[in-house]
Amino acid sequence: MAELSTSTTIATIIASIILHLVPTSYSSRLIVDEWRDSPIPQSDIDLLEFPLNLEYLEAEFFLYGSMGQGLDKFAPNLTRGGPKPLGARKANLDPYTRDVIKQFAWQEVGHLRAIKNTVQGFPRPLLDLSTKSFAKTMDAAFGRPLSPPFDPYASSLHYLIASYVIPYVGLTGYVGANPKLQAAASKRLVAGLLAVESGQDAVIRGLLYEYALIKLHPYGITVAEFTNRISDLRNKLGREGIKDEGLIVPKKMGAEGQIGGNVLAGDEYSIGYARTPEEILRVVYGSGNESTPGGFYPNGADGRIAKSHLQHC
Ligand SMILES: *[C@@H]1O[C@H](CO)[C@@H](O)[C@H](O)[C@H]1NC(C)=O
Ligand SMILES: *[C@@H]1O[C@H](CO)[C@@H](O)[C@H](O)[C@H]1NC(C)=O
Repeated sequence: MAELSTSTTIATIIASIILHLVPTSYSSRLIVDEWRDSPIPQSDIDLLEFPLNLEYLEAEFFLYGSMGQGLDKFAPNLTRGGPKPLGARKANLDPYTRDVIKQFAWQEVGHLRAIKNTVQGFPRPLLDLSTKSFAKTMDAAFGRPLSPPFDPYASSLHYLIASYVIPYVGLTGYVGANPKLQAAASKRLVAGLLAVESGQDAVIRGLLYEYALIKLHPYGITVAEFTNRISDLRNKLGREGIKDEGLIVPKKMGAEGQIGGNVLAGDEYSIGYARTPEEILRVVYGSGNESTPGGFYPNGADGRIAKSHLQHC
């Protein structure tokens, strides 16, 4: 009797597990399919396509920097025939930094796929990743020509400083896009992209923070000052106040006004800053004007938002 009821109980448990499993997997698949099928509004599509511009740049910069070749070698379909980036090359990285950058590179390839699985997107835009392009940014940040011109590919430290320039901009773009999105699938995608972009930014800042007070040879300028100048430049170009902070800030600008070390950037509540696509274009064009392409995007960025500002060109 006791044996029978035990086995009955076990059978009941097994049955209920099976019953539980079947409808759960069914219903979750239905929800996913519903997301896929439910049309994503055009405004979401525009906001999801815009960051492809930055993801292309990051993918190429990290792929070339760590392995000496880019999407044309590793994921040619993702380029959709867009032109080869200008001046990108393998950086002189130590094994640890190369390992980290290689991981970032493949993460960016994943991000391109994730966005393109959701929206149609566009081909790779023309990217200028030449030493000259980075040197120009650095000269603008310091308000004078650095001598010799800044070479992002010269060493691990140079490369990390150059890397400080971009993922953070993407991060603020995702923070800015999120409240404007309508579909659940769009929000899920952007939250997931933001998580990894901010992780990359944190790793880059964390690595640089270790060297904050080291002077970069041959400039005699500390790593902290490089980051402060780059952040100031981005604030100036974005034209919407402070949304960017270097590695060491006046104490009143640190977390809770209590500390000058600033390994992560955030507002007065240590909340990530938000930027609009227009602010981002002003920064990455280096022109302070979303209608004046240049900088890393000699022909301008792609997608409806960026193109809407290039109509008269
Ligand atoms: C890449 O594109 C080619 C040609 O259009 C196609 O045959 C191939 O299946 C694609 N590969 C992937 C991985 O999508
Ligand atoms: C941006 O550039 C456009 C086109 O050249 C120009 O009409 C506009 O005045 C510029 N805006 C600012 C704020 O400089």
